[in-house]
Amino acid sequence: MPTLILTRRDTLKLLVMKDVLRVVEQGFRDWTEGNGVMPPKAYLQVKDGDFRAMPALLPGAAGLKWVNVHTGNPSIGLPTVMAVLICNDPTTGYPLAVMDATDITAYRTGATSAIASKYLARKNSNTMGVIGAGRQAYTQILAHVELFSFQRIKVYDVFPQVTERLIKSLPDYPIEASSIVDAVQSDIVCTVTTARQPVVKQEWVLPGTHINAVGADAEGKQELEPTVLKMSRVVVDDIRQAAKAGEINVPITRGIYSQHEVYGTLGELVTGKKNGRTDDRQITIFDSTGVAIEDIAVAYLLYTSALEKDMGLNVNLVDA
Ligand SMILES: NC(=O)c1ccc[n+]([C@@H]2O[C@H](COP(=O)([O-])OP(=O)(O)OC[C@H]3O[C@@H](n4cnc5c(N)ncnc54)[C@H](O)[C@@H]3O)[C@@H](O)[C@H]2O)c1
Repeated sequence: MPTLILTRRDTLKLLVMKDVLRVVEQGFRDWTEGNGVMPPKAYLQVKDGDFRAMPALLPGAAGLKWVNVHTGNPSIGLPTVMAVLICNDPTTGYPLAVMDATDITAYRTGATSAIASKYLARKNSNTMGVIGAGRQAYTQILAHVELFSFQRIKVYDVFPQVTERLIKSLPDYPIEASSIVDAVQSDIVCTVTTARQPVVKQEWVLPGTHINAVGADAEGKQELEPTVLKMSRVVVDDIRQAAKAGEINVPITRGIYSQHEVYGTLGELVTGKKNGRTDDRQITIFDSTGVAIEDIAVAYLLYTSALEKDMGLNVNLVDA
């Protein structure tokens, strides 16, 4: 039996944001209803970055993503985040596919934020602010425009040329470069920087804002002033990961915030166990650390659509 190899070029051809949104939301539903298993990710620290091992089981597929975060990479022409994923048959363990997961990571991260916005942002949200204009910013926008109709998408990055590159890459949408304060003063805000110190100040955040805090996904990272958490309804993807490595990790370590203040998980919103936003002036935050459930849901989707389209390279990886 062959194992299917999918390169980054293959996965980019197969990734369709509308379908990614559907399977990621279903992945959160399955996991929350007890039809999925996911231990927290394991981190391996190296001098210039880190690696994460991310296993999960969902109906149909088990798998493991091996992903890095090396913040100096853009200066040498490599992505900050790259990933490889093994997708297995859960019954026999057979490796069904091995695939590049660099763009799977970006698409599922964007999709997860947009799903959080669906439950937590005001329904009439018509402005989006993006802080940090790198690889993840692109898919945060791609995912949100599937669910919201924005009049303005305001982008800020410390490097104006990075903002300009992002604007050029999405010519069909009303995107503009903005100051950080203007970007924060949007209905939906996505923070996707590699910062380790807060970049969003409490005084800039308006009532009714929804923030997807995406960049802080390892110990010691944060993007929001902790007081923003204190005045908000905070939802996490996984409390075990968020407390150790998400937006709330530094405030918890410093004793400014407690994990008991977290309102709930995205899975609880998706399954209707808890309400999302309850009034128009509430400030809401989704603390995204990135969970393997998202990756395996998308990887299995790409595996099945590659089989249908006869794409990829079949190799006898295991058979002697
Ligand atoms: N939560 C998740 O599921 C998830 C998934 C993937 C990546 N991430 C994290 O998201 C972050 C961004 O990843 P990426 O692949 O887009 O990286 P990237 O290097 O492509 O882009 C990051 C951008 O942030 C900008 N930036 C850094 N500090 C800033 C600041 N103070 N203000 C404004 N802009 C600033 C940089 O100039 C850069 O353009 C990383 O920290 C990564 O670890 C999280």
